Amino acid sequence: PRPILLTRHGESRDNVRGRIGGDTALSGTGELYAKKLSNFVEKRLKNERAASIWTSTLQRTILTANPIGGFPKVQWRALDEINAGVCDGMTYEEIKKNMPEEYESRKKDKLRYRYPRGESYLDVIQRLEPVIIELERQRAPVVVISHQAVLRALYAYFADRPLKEIPHIEMPLHTIIEIQMGVTGVQEKRYKLMD
Ligand code: G3H
Repeated sequence: PRPILLTRHGESRDNVRGRIGGDTALSGTGELYAKKLSNFVEKRLKNERAASIWTSTLQRTILTANPIGGFPKVQWRALDEINAGVCDGMTYEEIKKNMPEEYESRKKDKLRYRYPRGESYLDVIQRLEPVIIELERQRAPVVVISHQAVLRALYAYFADRPLKEIPHIEMPLHTIIEIQMGVTGVQEKRYKLMD
């Protein structure tokens, strides 16, 4: 068995302001998480010479991976956060106030709802297919540093959770979900590195 470690990026400046999407850097708290994560990964994967670190192409995941030494890093566009289209950079409050119909239709069917000029969860699930194929093919551990919506979909695949649950799965910041794939099935451990 070999582990797959899933984690969101450390808290970003937009997380602090409640803005979705964007491409901001980390907050101070987010930077602290990046350090803790690197300590954890370097210890956990000490003798795993073939392990690799996968991020999205967005700053907040690349900066979260930054302190981790000793492993190759790969950027995947397919690991980028759900594209919020015209709502990119807005807060949920602003969407509710300025685009109430959009807000309501998303609430009604978050899985299928597609942001105008953006993506739906179903779109995200579809674009993750090559990532999943490559993850399955790897024989060494992989650390995936990505985003809430994307990790919900990835996690659901490994934990065998139904499609309709995906947009609602809890995916906290500053927590590592370790998936072990063995002959007896999938096992999961969680490490909360910060409050
Ligand atoms: O910026 C996007 C969020 O991380 C996705 O969260 O799908 O629950 O709105 P949500």
